[in-house]
Amino acid sequence: MFRGIMLTRILTVVGVCLTMASVFAQPETSSRGRTVFETRCATCHGLDAHGGTAPNIARGSAAASYADDRLRRIIRDGLPAGMPGVGSSVPAADLTALVQHLRQLQRGGNNDAAEAPIAGDAALGRALFFGKADCAQCHSAEGRGGFLGSDLARTRLNPQALRQAIVHPEPSTKGTLVTITLRDGARKTGLVRNEDNFSLQLQDERGAFHSIDKASIANRSRDARPLMPTDYAQRLSDADIQNLIRYITQLAPTQPKP
Ligand code: HEC
Ligand code: HEC
Repeated sequence: MFRGIMLTRILTVVGVCLTMASVFAQPETSSRGRTVFETRCATCHGLDAHGGTAPNIARGSAAASYADDRLRRIIRDGLPAGMPGVGSSVPAADLTALVQHLRQLQRGGNNDAAEAPIAGDAALGRALFFGKADCAQCHSAEGRGGFLGSDLARTRLNPQALRQAIVHPEPSTKGTLVTITLRDGARKTGLVRNEDNFSLQLQDERGAFHSIDKASIANRSRDARPLMPTDYAQRLSDADIQNLIRYITQLAPTQPKP
């Protein structure tokens, strides 16, 4: 079994190497890869792959350290937390071109802004976070705050993507309320925290978890708007937003409680 997997891995690696060799002989592959990236990935990961609603997969990101093999698998099969796989809808040659393009983005290019020192005042950002902007109603930081949003100390977004997430949040699977109507007429609203073929776990706005048998669901509808407020660009000044970004980027993840 293990040997079989290793053999498939080795064959895939050999395959990737062969395709890569042919890629270097075909300069048009990179523009093909760009096109595929821009049509299939950029809506979530950003045109430059620096992240948006989805994590940064450009230079310096976790994805930059993945082997081609792993990237191809993620792209083909997707990931449970809101990353759709392309399945067989992208031909093998295009997939290769896509990975090549991503590698190019990960090697460098216009990453300067992301690496420049981050402007803003973290102390003012912190005051906003727990005060006027009330981010802590939903997000935790430094071990306190709400639970509907994620612990922002663990965000993988870079400063540009953080700004985007704050001023222009988009409905995503993990950040949009879902209303489930059961066959017996009962309704439950919350965020889908986990889902498999047979059941899903919904966390309601008070924090309670509901495990729902999929066979008992009559209807499922998702809000058109993200749960995260969409009016921060109006409510906060540019300096406020910069201070929040500065605060978030210097947060250190807290240890999970045992
Ligand atoms: C609908 C939005 C969406 C689209 C379209 C999308 N992704 Fe993703 N992608 C995500 C999300 C969300 C995650 C994070 C999933 C997770 O953390 O489990 C992710 C994760 C990834 C990762 C792993 C990142 C990491 O840090 O481990 C890679 C690599 C990736 N995507 C590449 C791509 C590529 C290449 C495309 C285009 C073929 C693409 N994605 C299209 C939403 C998307
Ligand atoms: C009413 C609840 C709510 C409030 C208030 C709120 N958020 Fe969110 N936010 C969410 C939800 C839900 C998500 C999507 C799930 C997630 O990634 O946290 C989200 C996502 C985010 C993300 C993307 C995180 C990532 O890693 O992808 C950032 C950044 C963010 N919020 C920052 C803020 C900041 C800063 C404030 C205050 C100015 C704020 N939020 C206020 C609910 C909220």
